[in-house]
Amino acid sequence: MTSTVIIGLSGSLNRPSRTRALVETAVSRAASRIKARSVVVDLLDLGPDLGTARRLSDLSAVARGTVDAIIGADALVVASPVYKGSYTGLFKHLIDLIDPLALVGKPVLLAATGGGDRHALVVEHQLRPLFAFFEAATLATGIYASEKEIDYDGTVSPGLSDRLDRAVAQFEPHLGARATEPRSPRTLPPARSSEPIAAAASA
Ligand SMILES: Cc1cc2nc3c(=O)[nH]c(=O)nc-3n(C[C@H](O)[C@H](O)[C@H](O)COP(=O)(O)O)c2cc1C
Repeated sequence: MTSTVIIGLSGSLNRPSRTRALVETAVSRAASRIKARSVVVDLLDLGPDLGTARRLSDLSAVARGTVDAIIGADALVVASPVYKGSYTGLFKHLIDLIDPLALVGKPVLLAATGGGDRHALVVEHQLRPLFAFFEAATLATGIYASEKEIDYDGTVSPGLSDRLDRAVAQFEPHLGARATEPRSPRTLPPARSSEPIAAAASA
């Protein structure tokens, strides 16, 4: 049984959500390519405490377990809808709760959805600097999808499909190396499994 875990995080509060659909598609392709277990979570999964939490310990046990699982994952797919030219405020608030050293070296595929093409560089100008702060190993290819390119059910345009395949292939060198290297507990704390995460990961 594989022990590699990829977690997808969507920074949307909507359901249905194109951002979640994009994350699910990317995670599913990555997981099948590298034979990993996978889980996708969004901001709603973290519950109503997220907005008022000042630190991770303010979250519910389930939400804390979800964040710990995100931190402990072998790789992440992280996406946000574009709001006013950037990631959503609640997504940034969640990221603000995470220890600055918690994502060092973590392979992260960055993605975003937006209404049109005008803010297609949000991945490069907003998400990539944010994850550079954490010294995460962001994949070279970022994914931006306009509303025309992805449906709520995960149907994607041919162009987006090609970009997704190119991006998820870039996980391979990272995860191949990580499989043989012991993790540093300082930079990659082990996931504290919550029931929803554990159940989804084994599905
Ligand atoms: C408050 C708000 C602000 C938005 N700002 C932008 C924007 O600046 N640029 C853009 O391209 N789309 C913008 N959009 C559209 C969303 O990014 C787009 O519909 C996105 O795919 C929604 O993702 P979701 O289905 O996961 O919620 C905005 C939508 C909302 C609700």
